[in-house]
Amino acid sequence: MCGIVACILKDGSAAPVLLECVRRLEYRGYDSVGIATSDPMIRIKKDSGKIDEVDAELDLADLPGSMGIAHVRWATHGLPTAENAHPHTDCSGEIAVVHNGIIENYLEVKEELESEGHIFRSETDTEVIPHLIEKYMDEGMDLEAATATALRKLRGAYAIAVVSSREPGRIVGARKESPLIVGVGEGEYFLASDVPAILNHTSRVIYLDDGEMVILDGDLRVTDMEGNTVEKEIHSIDWSADMAEKGGYDHFMLKEIHEEPSAVRDTLTEWDEVLGVVEEIGEVERICFVACGTSYHASLVGKYLFESLLGIPTDVILASEFRYSAGALNDRTLAIFISQSGETADTLNALRAANSRAKTLAIVNVLGSSATREAQHVLYTRAGPEIGVAATKTYVSQLTVIYMLVAAMGAPELMDRLGRVPEFMERALKDEDSIRELAATCSDVSDFFFIGRGFAYPTALEGALKLKEITYIHGEGYAAGELKHGPLALIDNGVPVVAISPPGPCHDKTLSNVEEVRARGARVIGVGSISDESLRKEADDFIGLDPEVDDVISPLIYIVPLQLLSYHVSVERGLDPDKPKNLAKCVTVE
Ligand code: G6P
Repeated sequence: MCGIVACILKDGSAAPVLLECVRRLEYRGYDSVGIATSDPMIRIKKDSGKIDEVDAELDLADLPGSMGIAHVRWATHGLPTAENAHPHTDCSGEIAVVHNGIIENYLEVKEELESEGHIFRSETDTEVIPHLIEKYMDEGMDLEAATATALRKLRGAYAIAVVSSREPGRIVGARKESPLIVGVGEGEYFLASDVPAILNHTSRVIYLDDGEMVILDGDLRVTDMEGNTVEKEIHSIDWSADMAEKGGYDHFMLKEIHEEPSAVRDTLTEWDEVLGVVEEIGEVERICFVACGTSYHASLVGKYLFESLLGIPTDVILASEFRYSAGALNDRTLAIFISQSGETADTLNALRAANSRAKTLAIVNVLGSSATREAQHVLYTRAGPEIGVAATKTYVSQLTVIYMLVAAMGAPELMDRLGRVPEFMERALKDEDSIRELAATCSDVSDFFFIGRGFAYPTALEGALKLKEITYIHGEGYAAGELKHGPLALIDNGVPVVAISPPGPCHDKTLSNVEEVRARGARVIGVGSISDESLRKEADDFIGLDPEVDDVISPLIYIVPLQLLSYHVSVERGLDPDKPKNLAKCVTVE
């Protein structure tokens, strides 16, 4: 995962700019942070820990020079220590590199370099890059040629940025299977893992493709690995810098939950695009969703929709399992890849494998991300940048696109109900105070269960995922009917069971399951229609939602109080919900 940035300014100091940009990438990793500037001597400050902690100790913005590189790390190779923090340098300290990705053959390259006398200081795969560049520069190559030659020797995934005091005023970047964009300012240039990092400085962006390098000096040149110039388009981004700010909220996650009504409204404006894609795709006999994490739960809702409303057989496959289980794709299968980031390695690998065997459609939030360039068809969610690691507004936006797709493929009656979703969400958000109070009463439990049937089942899974991600409480989502096949053994006095039971055909059966857990001493938190007296009676605590929200549309609205509950439990436990430990927002490793 990791995030990288680089900048070369007309004048002024690069370090404060790099620090500000890399803060916006902290959702990608917070094991360590580091900055290197060049004036032209390379100076580095780096350490393990979150940016605020390291900054308080090292004053990261206090480095000379108008150009430099920076990094936040999510550790893969080597512990999250100061030695393993990026930037990494060559033996002489004249070449510094930041890297996002994994170099698969680093051990053999490292051995070879060590036998030639190179001294390594970290356990990372990345460190082979500066040493290789050093070796080729010592043989007489310039920074650009040495970087290209080094990269040709390496297997794996990378987005890198390189500076060297031997070639002042130049930054070289390159990408293969890890994201890297170029920001084009007024006489100044940026590299970043994603767009929000640089929005304060420019909204003009070039998306690099795999196998491309970029050379920034007073000018900008994109080449292939053989040094041939590649013409690139400059895109204007309509995301603003404010969209990546907290805007008065304590955390990004809370702000993003409150943005859900507008995220759905904005995503609904994509209706013409949805109709266009459905027409292009043509006849479909089978659907196969592929995704990870929260996007996988959005896909599960898709299965219930496609099968119950359109009768189209639908599979949902975890992207990391795709290569082992997706046998039956053909040219009448529509494989739908759902990904907020459009950069999840497992999802991209599955997409690449499916492209020659099926029709492929990517539903993505991040403009210009890899999935949008590799899928045959693309639909965007219009959630805007999401910074909190736990997906919230992008989940409901993904659901919105899936519902629109189903509407366009044969269930147009859904559109009227979708139009009312933002209003239902706004009402649900008004209940935040009572959810905060509820959170205060269940922040010290060790287990939580979420149950639901039919359309409420994916909501139970997503509710449990939110809880475990940001509160570190064991949360399990279960199909309510499955309880008696195992989890009931875990229900004891006072264990919270969140029973999700919107009005609809499953309601009464879910109520029977509620009675089962109550009989074993569970503390039932009912989530249902505000006029659902039977659930209210069975429940110890009750979260009431608009009675007009039925089970079909419920995944879009019933998740809102569950996200708020997890958020407030997390805050109650003194945690930072935006940066859960060991997790990152964009998972670019398999
Ligand atoms: C990570 C994030 C999750 C996200 C998942 C899939 O685990 O923390 O929030 O759901 O990746 O990411 P994607 O960008 O493909 O939706």
